Amino acid sequence: MLNKFKICDLLGIEYPIIQGGMAWLGTCELVSAVSNAGGLGTIGSGDAPTEWLRQQIRQTRERTDRPFAVNIMMMSPFLAENMKLVAEEKVGIVTFGGGNPGQYLAGLKEAGIKVIPVVSSVALARRLERLGADAVVAEGVESGGHVGETTTMALVPQVAGSLKVPVIAAGGIADGRGLVAALALGADGVQMGTRFICSEECIAHTRFKQHILEAGDRATVVTGVSTGHPVRCLQNKLTYQFATLEKAGATTAELEELGRGRLSLGVMQGEIEEGSLMAGQIAGLITDIKPVKVIIRDIMAEAEKVINDMAGHRKG
Ligand SMILES: Cc1cc2nc3c(=O)[nH]c(=O)nc-3n(C[C@H](O)[C@H](O)[C@H](O)COP(=O)(O)O)c2cc1C
Repeated sequence: MLNKFKICDLLGIEYPIIQGGMAWLGTCELVSAVSNAGGLGTIGSGDAPTEWLRQQIRQTRERTDRPFAVNIMMMSPFLAENMKLVAEEKVGIVTFGGGNPGQYLAGLKEAGIKVIPVVSSVALARRLERLGADAVVAEGVESGGHVGETTTMALVPQVAGSLKVPVIAAGGIADGRGLVAALALGADGVQMGTRFICSEECIAHTRFKQHILEAGDRATVVTGVSTGHPVRCLQNKLTYQFATLEKAGATTAELEELGRGRLSLGVMQGEIEEGSLMAGQIAGLITDIKPVKVIIRDIMAEAEKVINDMAGHRKG
């Protein structure tokens, strides 16, 4: 029943499931596993140097011959070089996080690259569709990492109702129920981050994965609103220090200094109190570490069952 998705035709994938680009964690291991399992894997370039990204693209190609994407952060110090690289390497699909990539769309389209920006408002979604975006990811405030203000539940139907191009829902989705809910809201597919961290293939530190497994529904917090770049993470000593400084009126420079280097400390080195543990509110729903293939298979099977059960409710 669940087998005809226009997003799958657009991206050349089997299932309407995208692994969101994640700084440090969206590496060739996870990306190729997701693409090989029929979803779309995404390399997370974050603020890594362009040469790192080139190697990741090449290593991903060694591990899969299926489509994958590269995520580029608008705040990256290597933004201009990364833009050149994706054209040089003939990457098929580019997604953008952390800002408005409008000025780059025409160039990427000319190079034959499909462009999928991540948006948190209808206005930006509309503007980027006009500029040629092939699809958008509508990402709600439940998400891990950089966030907007509107919930997935409210944002997705408003974006879907305003655009002609496909809309991918992100933020707070980790199982088949989430996929069906997103489709019901008008989305064409889903993007997940936190669920894929708890996969066998993700290179995240075991202590970080374990922390997600132990998280409850209120385990995350958003900090950094005063800097204009709010971020959702699991609460720990660092988020407490950050929030305290923010309340005391610290400058953006002081807050950036506190945050420097913390993401790799948390997610790669497993420093659970001192590091930044970006993760979404759906962490509370995740209780196991599974191979990517099983994650995707279980989501599709559960979605199918949920739809059948709903049809049953109607008859009853
Ligand atoms: C550890 C982590 C790092 C992330 N890094 C990026 C990034 O570099 N670029 C980006 O566009 N989104 C980034 N995201 C957001 C994800 O791509 C995805 O949209 C989000 O996790 C979806 O919400 P979920 O966590 O509720 O599934 C990150 C998320 C996490 C958890």
